[in-house]
Amino acid sequence: MLSGFNSATLTAYSIKGYIMATKAKTRAGRVAERKTIRSQSPDRKKETQAASPSAIDLLEQDHREVEDWFDEYDELKEDDARKAELAQKICLALKVHAQIEEEIFYPQAREATKDNDLIDEAVVEHATVKNLIAEIESMEVGEDLYDAKIRVLGEMVKQHIKEEEEELFPELGPAKIDLEGFGKELAERKEELMAEMQA
Ligand SMILES: [Fe+2]
Ligand SMILES: [Fe+2]
Repeated sequence: MLSGFNSATLTAYSIKGYIMATKAKTRAGRVAERKTIRSQSPDRKKETQAASPSAIDLLEQDHREVEDWFDEYDELKEDDARKAELAQKICLALKVHAQIEEEIFYPQAREATKDNDLIDEAVVEHATVKNLIAEIESMEVGEDLYDAKIRVLGEMVKQHIKEEEEELFPELGPAKIDLEGFGKELAERKEELMAEMQA
């Protein structure tokens, strides 16, 4: 028998190992894990059956999608056709996303959290993002500063997403806001705006 290596020590080792493993996880790993945990919870199952995503799920899906497009753009070298396609997807998705947040989500979040400073900052960030999008949309791929503008847009958007997910979303629980009800509303408005803006 190993002296001094009792079950408490083992537990301590396992906890340390767990913490180290957790720290070493990539962002993608954390996102995947969060999704797994959510899909396993009984409340989530009910939501899935009701076929209406929660407002937070829908907004987070949009965030992941646009982050992936920015990452893909970043790795492209000379493929102007794909760059143009990605830039167009990014700009459209961001305009629609910003509008559904401003029309539906932020007013509810403002009401629920009473955190006006946080929402005010988010609205100002949206305005900055929209200005940069307008500049990008007036340009052609390959022009001077085009890639740099997409990169700066990506940095701004990722920072904004981080603030929403780490500061705003945690303040909103089912007790404060009807997340499923607003999920449905957001999804419907998103579909409408996608059709309008693509026309
Ligand atoms: Fe936002
Ligand atoms: Fe957002």
